[in-house]
Amino acid sequence: MTAPALTIVHVVAMTERHIIGRGNSLPWNLPSDLKNFRKRTIGKPIIMGRKTFQSISSPPLKGRQNIVMTGNESFSAEGIIFVKNLEEALKEARSYAKKHGVDEIAIIGGAEIYKITLPLVQRIYLTVIKDNSVIEGDKNYPNLNSKDWRKISYKKIARQGNEDYDRVNITYDRCNDAAT
Ligand SMILES: NC(=O)c1ccc[n+]([C@@H]2O[C@H](COP(=O)([O-])OP(=O)(O)OC[C@H]3O[C@@H](n4cnc5c(N)ncnc54)[C@H](OP(=O)(O)O)[C@@H]3O)[C@@H](O)[C@H]2O)c1
Repeated sequence: MTAPALTIVHVVAMTERHIIGRGNSLPWNLPSDLKNFRKRTIGKPIIMGRKTFQSISSPPLKGRQNIVMTGNESFSAEGIIFVKNLEEALKEARSYAKKHGVDEIAIIGGAEIYKITLPLVQRIYLTVIKDNSVIEGDKNYPNLNSKDWRKISYKKIARQGNEDYDRVNITYDRCNDAAT
């Protein structure tokens, strides 16, 4: 059996002004989007920065190989692989994906990690929170060059329960061979 081709993806939720975080947390409470995040990442190797790791209330995120990038070699935690650079993160992620027959490596933030990995990414699972630009924050997702990305799906999701915002789920695929 040949291994499935491996795609590196971003899974990200942002406001209309590209805000993704505030005070090392998410500046919104959208349980239905967390379900979407789970669906997009379950079973996959997930790569995150040390600050995002520390923002998770009870790591590791279950059912996924958690890979955390940090320059601090003293970190250790059960069920988590800590790596000191992107090359090592991708090596661990590829090894897990191969072993488990998974076809995506999910990069789950935060801002620093999205920025340095964007050139490698072939697909983006993006949630846009329809906040009418009211949400403030201190971390942003990079601007995407529209020439590089093709929208392959678009779905409006109405707020559920006590949620404050509607959202849109968009999948973008890179439309040139710039990614390696
Ligand atoms: N809305 C979303 O979808 C979403 C998703 C994830 C996170 N977030 C939010 O984003 C914010 C966190 O983002 P952030 O940019 O502050 O932090 P981050 O990207 O999560 O983590 C940054 C840290 O990663 C490590 N790092 C970065 N580049 C590295 C490299 N090349 N090699 C090794 N380690 C490297 C460093 O850790 P050391 O300092 O330990 O060396 C650095 O301080 C939070 O507010 C969080 O809630 C939002």
